[in-house]
Amino acid sequence: MRLTLEQAILQLQQGKVVGIPTETVYGLAATLNSPQAIGEIFTLKGRPSNNPLIVHMAHKEQIQGFASKLPQDFFKLAEAFWPGPLTLVLPVSKDKIPPNVCAGLPTAAFRVPELLLTRQVIEATGPLVMPSANISGRPSATSADHVEADFGQDFPVLDGNACRQGVESTILYWDVDEAAWIIIRLGALAPEAFLPVLGYVPKVSVGPKNGQQAPLCPGQMYKHYAPQAHLKLIREFTGDENGVVIGFDNRRYPPGCRLISLGSTKDPQGVAQSLYSVLRSLDTHSIEQAWVDIDFPDAGLWLTISERLSKAAGK
Ligand code: TXA
Ligand code: MG
Repeated sequence: MRLTLEQAILQLQQGKVVGIPTETVYGLAATLNSPQAIGEIFTLKGRPSNNPLIVHMAHKEQIQGFASKLPQDFFKLAEAFWPGPLTLVLPVSKDKIPPNVCAGLPTAAFRVPELLLTRQVIEATGPLVMPSANISGRPSATSADHVEADFGQDFPVLDGNACRQGVESTILYWDVDEAAWIIIRLGALAPEAFLPVLGYVPKVSVGPKNGQQAPLCPGQMYKHYAPQAHLKLIREFTGDENGVVIGFDNRRYPPGCRLISLGSTKDPQGVAQSLYSVLRSLDTHSIEQAWVDIDFPDAGLWLTISERLSKAAGK
Protein backbone atom coordinates (compact mmCIF):
# COMPACT_ATOMS: atom_id res chain seq x y z
CA MET A 1 0.00 0.00 0.00
CA ARG A 2 1.63 3.22 -1.15
CA LEU A 3 1.75 6.11 1.32
CA THR A 4 2.26 9.82 0.72
CA LEU A 5 5.18 11.49 2.49
CA GLU A 6 2.78 12.95 5.08
CA GLN A 7 1.13 9.56 5.70
CA ALA A 8 4.51 7.83 6.08
CA ILE A 9 5.62 10.45 8.65
CA LEU A 10 2.34 10.18 10.56
CA GLN A 11 2.43 6.38 10.70
CA LEU A 12 6.03 6.41 11.97
CA GLN A 13 5.11 9.02 14.60
CA GLN A 14 2.23 6.73 15.66
CA GLY A 15 4.72 3.93 16.32
CA LYS A 16 4.17 1.89 13.15
CA VAL A 17 6.66 0.15 10.86
CA VAL A 18 6.85 1.64 7.34
CA GLY A 19 8.86 0.72 4.22
CA ILE A 20 11.08 3.70 3.32
CA PRO A 21 13.30 4.23 0.26
CA THR A 22 16.98 5.17 0.54
CA GLU A 23 19.58 5.59 -2.22
CA THR A 24 21.03 2.13 -1.38
CA VAL A 25 18.09 -0.23 -0.72
CA TYR A 26 14.61 0.16 0.83
CA GLY A 27 14.48 -0.05 4.64
CA LEU A 28 11.89 -1.20 7.19
CA ALA A 29 11.70 1.86 9.41
CA ALA A 30 10.70 2.60 13.01
CA THR A 31 11.50 5.60 15.20
CA LEU A 32 14.03 5.14 17.99
CA ASN A 33 11.35 5.75 20.60
CA SER A 34 8.94 3.06 19.37
CA PRO A 35 10.17 -0.10 21.16
CA GLN A 36 7.18 -2.08 19.99
CA ALA A 37 7.74 -1.18 16.32
CA ILE A 38 11.46 -1.99 16.65
CA GLY A 39 10.53 -5.43 18.02
CA GLU A 40 8.06 -5.87 15.16
CA ILE A 41 10.84 -5.24 12.61
CA PHE A 42 12.69 -8.31 13.90
CA THR A 43 9.49 -10.40 13.76
CA LEU A 44 8.46 -9.20 10.29
CA LYS A 45 11.89 -9.94 8.81
CA GLY A 46 12.46 -13.16 10.75
CA ARG A 47 15.70 -11.50 11.91
CA PRO A 48 17.76 -12.98 14.77
CA SER A 49 17.78 -10.67 17.80
CA ASN A 50 21.60 -10.66 17.90
CA ASN A 51 21.78 -8.82 14.57
CA PRO A 52 21.79 -5.06 15.34
CA LEU A 53 20.12 -2.28 13.33
CA ILE A 54 21.55 0.85 11.68
CA VAL A 55 20.42 4.23 13.06
CA HIS A 56 19.65 6.67 10.22
CA MET A 57 20.04 10.39 10.89
CA ALA A 58 18.90 13.47 8.93
CA HIS A 59 22.28 15.21 9.28
CA LYS A 60 25.72 14.45 10.68
CA GLU A 61 25.42 16.79 13.68
CA GLN A 62 22.85 14.40 15.19
CA ILE A 63 25.70 12.00 16.04
CA GLN A 64 26.66 14.22 19.00
CA GLY A 65 23.61 12.97 20.91
CA PHE A 66 24.59 9.31 20.56
CA ALA A 67 28.30 8.58 20.26
CA SER A 68 30.42 8.38 23.41
CA LYS A 69 33.64 8.75 21.44
CA LEU A 70 34.44 9.77 17.87
CA PRO A 71 37.47 7.84 16.56
CA GLN A 72 40.31 9.41 14.60
CA ASP A 73 39.28 10.79 11.19
CA PHE A 74 35.57 10.51 12.02
CA PHE A 75 35.02 14.13 10.95
CA LYS A 76 36.92 13.62 7.69
CA LEU A 77 34.73 10.61 6.85
CA ALA A 78 31.49 12.32 7.85
CA GLU A 79 32.42 15.45 5.90
CA ALA A 80 33.31 13.47 2.77
CA PHE A 81 30.58 10.81 2.73
CA TRP A 82 27.54 11.97 4.73
CA PRO A 83 24.93 12.21 3.37
CA GLY A 84 25.76 9.03 1.46
CA PRO A 85 26.08 5.24 1.47
CA LEU A 86 28.57 5.01 4.36
CA THR A 87 27.73 3.45 7.75
CA LEU A 88 30.08 4.03 10.70
CA VAL A 89 30.13 1.79 13.77
CA LEU A 90 30.78 3.96 16.84
CA PRO A 91 30.91 3.47 20.61
CA VAL A 92 27.65 4.74 22.13
CA SER A 93 26.69 6.23 25.45
CA LYS A 94 24.71 3.83 27.61
CA ASP A 95 20.93 4.33 27.45
CA LYS A 96 21.11 6.54 24.33
CA ILE A 97 20.10 3.69 22.01
CA PRO A 98 17.47 1.04 22.85
CA PRO A 99 19.24 -2.27 23.69
CA ASN A 100 17.44 -4.23 20.96
CA VAL A 101 18.85 -1.82 18.34
CA CYS A 102 22.50 -2.52 19.34
CA ALA A 103 21.81 -6.20 20.13
CA GLY A 104 23.70 -5.74 23.40
CA LEU A 105 26.90 -4.39 21.77
CA PRO A 106 28.71 -1.33 23.21
CA THR A 107 28.57 0.18 19.70
CA ALA A 108 25.89 1.21 17.21
CA ALA A 109 25.94 1.73 13.45
CA PHE A 110 25.02 5.15 11.99
CA ARG A 111 24.45 6.67 8.61
CA VAL A 112 22.97 9.77 6.95
CA PRO A 113 21.15 8.67 3.78
CA GLU A 114 21.68 10.69 0.63
CA LEU A 115 18.14 10.44 -0.75
CA LEU A 116 16.38 13.73 0.03
CA LEU A 117 13.02 11.98 0.54
CA THR A 118 14.55 9.81 3.29
CA ARG A 119 16.00 12.82 5.06
CA GLN A 120 12.66 14.68 4.79
CA VAL A 121 11.05 11.80 6.68
CA ILE A 122 13.80 11.73 9.33
CA GLU A 123 13.68 15.53 9.79
CA ALA A 124 10.04 15.10 10.83
CA THR A 125 10.25 11.86 12.82
CA GLY A 126 13.74 11.95 14.37
CA PRO A 127 16.33 9.20 13.77
CA LEU A 128 15.00 5.96 12.28
CA VAL A 129 16.28 2.42 12.62
CA MET A 130 16.11 0.62 9.29
CA PRO A 131 17.32 -2.79 8.24
CA SER A 132 16.92 -3.65 4.57
CA ALA A 133 13.24 -4.22 3.70
CA ASN A 134 13.40 -7.91 2.83
CA ILE A 135 12.62 -11.16 4.60
CA SER A 136 15.92 -12.21 6.25
CA GLY A 137 18.09 -14.18 3.86
CA ARG A 138 16.29 -12.99 0.69
CA PRO A 139 17.61 -10.46 -1.84
CA SER A 140 17.25 -6.88 -0.57
CA ALA A 141 14.48 -4.63 -1.93
CA THR A 142 15.36 -1.88 -4.40
CA SER A 143 11.80 -0.83 -5.28
CA ALA A 144 8.44 -0.43 -3.53
CA ASP A 145 7.22 -3.47 -5.53
CA HIS A 146 9.96 -5.60 -3.92
CA VAL A 147 8.88 -4.49 -0.44
CA GLU A 148 5.26 -5.48 -1.23
CA ALA A 149 6.44 -8.79 -2.70
CA ASP A 150 7.99 -9.71 0.68
CA PHE A 151 5.53 -8.16 3.13
CA GLY A 152 2.24 -8.12 1.18
CA GLN A 153 0.25 -5.62 -0.88
CA ASP A 154 -1.22 -4.03 2.26
CA PHE A 155 2.15 -3.29 3.83
CA PRO A 156 2.67 0.51 4.05
CA VAL A 157 5.50 1.77 1.87
CA LEU A 158 6.68 5.18 0.71
CA ASP A 159 7.54 4.89 -2.99
CA GLY A 160 10.82 6.61 -3.87
CA ASN A 161 11.29 4.81 -7.22
CA ALA A 162 14.21 2.46 -7.90
CA CYS A 163 17.28 2.87 -5.66
CA ARG A 164 20.16 4.73 -7.32
CA GLN A 165 22.91 2.63 -5.71
CA GLY A 166 21.13 -0.74 -5.56
CA VAL A 167 23.44 -2.30 -2.93
CA GLU A 168 23.70 -1.56 0.78
CA SER A 169 25.98 1.00 2.42
CA THR A 170 29.64 0.20 3.10
CA ILE A 171 30.23 -0.31 6.84
CA LEU A 172 33.43 0.94 8.50
CA TYR A 173 34.62 -0.02 11.98
CA TRP A 174 37.45 1.62 13.96
CA ASP A 175 39.96 -1.12 14.78
CA VAL A 176 41.70 0.00 17.98
CA ASP A 177 44.52 -2.56 17.66
CA GLU A 178 45.36 -1.53 14.09
CA ALA A 179 44.60 2.15 14.71
CA ALA A 180 42.78 2.14 11.39
CA TRP A 181 39.30 1.94 9.91
CA ILE A 182 38.41 -1.43 8.42
CA ILE A 183 35.56 -2.45 6.13
CA ILE A 184 33.29 -4.95 7.85
CA ARG A 185 30.70 -5.00 5.05
CA LEU A 186 31.47 -4.23 1.42
CA GLY A 187 28.91 -1.90 -0.08
CA ALA A 188 28.08 0.94 -2.44
CA LEU A 189 31.35 2.78 -1.69
CA ALA A 190 34.36 0.92 -3.11
CA PRO A 191 37.37 0.49 -0.76
CA GLU A 192 39.43 2.79 -3.03
CA ALA A 193 36.97 5.65 -2.43
CA PHE A 194 38.48 6.15 1.04
CA LEU A 195 42.09 6.63 -0.12
CA PRO A 196 41.86 10.40 -0.74
CA VAL A 197 40.14 10.95 2.61
CA LEU A 198 41.99 8.58 4.96
CA GLY A 199 45.30 8.31 3.11
CA TYR A 200 44.91 4.52 2.94
CA VAL A 201 42.54 1.92 1.52
CA PRO A 202 40.81 0.26 4.49
CA LYS A 203 41.34 -3.49 4.78
CA VAL A 204 38.31 -5.66 4.21
CA SER A 205 37.69 -7.87 7.24
CA VAL A 206 34.30 -9.51 7.15
CA GLY A 207 35.09 -12.59 9.24
CA PRO A 208 35.68 -12.93 13.01
CA LYS A 209 38.66 -11.01 14.44
CA ASN A 210 41.69 -13.05 15.57
CA GLY A 211 40.86 -15.06 18.65
CA GLN A 212 37.21 -14.01 18.68
CA GLN A 213 34.22 -16.07 17.72
CA ALA A 214 31.73 -13.52 16.51
CA PRO A 215 32.38 -11.52 13.33
CA LEU A 216 32.66 -7.75 13.73
CA CYS A 217 29.53 -7.37 11.62
CA PRO A 218 26.98 -9.80 13.13
CA GLY A 219 24.85 -9.80 9.96
CA GLN A 220 27.69 -11.48 8.06
CA MET A 221 27.02 -14.73 9.93
CA TYR A 222 23.72 -15.26 8.20
CA LYS A 223 22.57 -16.48 4.81
CA HIS A 224 21.93 -13.45 2.61
CA TYR A 225 20.64 -12.06 -0.65
CA ALA A 226 19.55 -15.53 -1.86
CA PRO A 227 16.76 -16.36 -4.29
CA GLN A 228 15.10 -19.81 -4.17
CA ALA A 229 16.98 -20.68 -7.36
CA HIS A 230 20.25 -22.61 -7.16
CA LEU A 231 23.04 -20.37 -8.47
CA LYS A 232 26.15 -21.82 -10.09
CA LEU A 233 29.00 -19.31 -10.21
CA ILE A 234 31.23 -19.69 -13.28
CA ARG A 235 34.28 -17.83 -14.57
CA GLU A 236 34.74 -19.60 -17.87
CA PHE A 237 32.06 -21.24 -20.01
CA THR A 238 33.07 -24.45 -21.83
CA GLY A 239 30.33 -24.07 -24.45
CA ASP A 240 28.26 -27.01 -23.21
CA GLU A 241 26.29 -25.09 -20.57
CA ASN A 242 22.60 -24.53 -21.07
CA GLY A 243 19.67 -22.91 -19.33
CA VAL A 244 19.53 -19.47 -17.74
CA VAL A 245 22.68 -17.35 -17.44
CA ILE A 246 22.89 -14.25 -15.30
CA GLY A 247 25.47 -12.32 -17.24
CA PHE A 248 26.25 -9.26 -19.33
CA ASP A 249 24.90 -7.63 -22.53
CA ASN A 250 28.36 -7.20 -23.96
CA ARG A 251 29.38 -10.87 -23.68
CA ARG A 252 28.51 -13.95 -25.69
CA TYR A 253 27.29 -17.15 -24.01
CA PRO A 254 26.93 -20.75 -25.28
CA PRO A 255 24.05 -21.29 -27.74
CA GLY A 256 21.96 -23.29 -25.25
CA CYS A 257 21.91 -20.40 -22.76
CA ARG A 258 19.26 -17.73 -22.19
CA LEU A 259 20.66 -14.46 -20.84
CA ILE A 260 19.15 -12.51 -17.96
CA SER A 261 21.27 -9.39 -18.09
CA LEU A 262 22.85 -7.48 -15.23
CA GLY A 263 23.87 -4.77 -17.74
CA SER A 264 27.32 -4.15 -19.15
CA THR A 265 30.73 -5.11 -17.71
CA LYS A 266 31.70 -1.49 -18.53
CA ASP A 267 29.15 -0.15 -16.03
CA PRO A 268 29.52 -1.69 -12.52
CA GLN A 269 27.20 0.98 -11.07
CA GLY A 270 24.44 -0.12 -13.45
CA VAL A 271 25.13 -3.76 -12.53
CA ALA A 272 24.81 -2.95 -8.81
CA GLN A 273 21.52 -1.15 -9.50
CA SER A 274 19.97 -4.15 -11.23
CA LEU A 275 21.51 -6.91 -9.05
CA TYR A 276 18.66 -7.58 -6.59
CA SER A 277 15.94 -7.12 -9.23
CA VAL A 278 17.63 -9.76 -11.36
CA LEU A 279 17.99 -12.17 -8.41
CA ARG A 280 14.35 -11.62 -7.45
CA SER A 281 13.18 -12.12 -11.05
CA LEU A 282 14.43 -15.75 -10.92
CA ASP A 283 11.81 -16.55 -8.28
CA THR A 284 9.09 -14.51 -10.00
CA HIS A 285 9.63 -16.63 -13.11
CA SER A 286 10.00 -19.89 -11.11
CA ILE A 287 13.51 -20.47 -12.47
CA GLU A 288 15.12 -23.24 -10.42
CA GLN A 289 18.73 -22.81 -11.38
CA ALA A 290 20.99 -20.39 -13.17
CA TRP A 291 24.62 -19.95 -14.14
CA VAL A 292 26.17 -16.70 -12.93
CA ASP A 293 29.03 -15.19 -14.93
CA ILE A 294 31.50 -13.95 -12.28
CA ASP A 295 34.40 -13.19 -14.60
CA PHE A 296 34.99 -9.60 -13.56
CA PRO A 297 37.80 -7.55 -11.94
CA ASP A 298 38.87 -7.97 -8.31
CA ALA A 299 38.53 -4.26 -7.55
CA GLY A 300 36.14 -1.37 -7.00
CA LEU A 301 32.39 -1.96 -6.87
CA TRP A 302 32.97 -5.41 -8.44
CA LEU A 303 34.17 -6.61 -5.01
CA THR A 304 30.73 -5.84 -3.57
CA ILE A 305 28.89 -7.37 -6.53
CA SER A 306 31.05 -10.48 -6.26
CA GLU A 307 30.48 -10.79 -2.50
CA ARG A 308 26.69 -10.44 -2.92
CA LEU A 309 26.60 -13.08 -5.67
CA SER A 310 28.73 -15.51 -3.62
CA LYS A 311 26.42 -15.10 -0.65
CA ALA A 312 23.35 -15.44 -2.91
CA ALA A 313 24.82 -18.75 -4.14
CA GLY A 314 25.14 -19.89 -0.52
CA LYS A 315 28.94 -19.61 -0.42
O1 TXA B 1 22.31 0.66 3.00
C1 TXA B 1 22.04 0.19 4.10
O2 TXA B 1 22.90 0.09 5.00
C2 TXA B 1 20.60 -0.28 4.35
C3 TXA B 1 19.66 0.93 4.21
C4 TXA B 1 18.24 0.62 4.54
O3 TXA B 1 20.17 1.98 5.00
N1 TXA B 1 20.46 -0.93 5.60
C5 TXA B 1 20.94 -2.18 5.84
O4 TXA B 1 20.59 -2.69 7.09
O5 TXA B 1 21.61 -2.80 5.04
P1 TXA B 1 20.74 -4.24 7.44
O6 TXA B 1 20.10 -4.36 8.78
O7 TXA B 1 20.20 -5.07 6.36
O8 TXA B 1 22.27 -4.44 7.60
C6 TXA B 1 22.95 -3.78 8.65
C7 TXA B 1 24.21 -4.50 8.97
C8 TXA B 1 24.00 -5.87 9.59
O9 TXA B 1 24.87 -6.79 8.97
C9 TXA B 1 24.38 -5.64 11.05
O10 TXA B 1 24.92 -6.81 11.63
C10 TXA B 1 25.40 -4.53 10.94
O11 TXA B 1 24.91 -3.70 9.94
N2 TXA B 1 25.50 -3.74 12.20
C11 TXA B 1 24.55 -3.00 12.78
N3 TXA B 1 24.99 -2.49 13.95
C12 TXA B 1 26.27 -2.92 14.11
C13 TXA B 1 27.26 -2.76 15.15
N4 TXA B 1 27.03 -2.07 16.24
N5 TXA B 1 28.46 -3.37 14.96
C14 TXA B 1 28.70 -4.10 13.84
N6 TXA B 1 27.79 -4.29 12.85
C15 TXA B 1 26.60 -3.72 12.98
MG1 MG C 1 20.03 -6.65 5.03
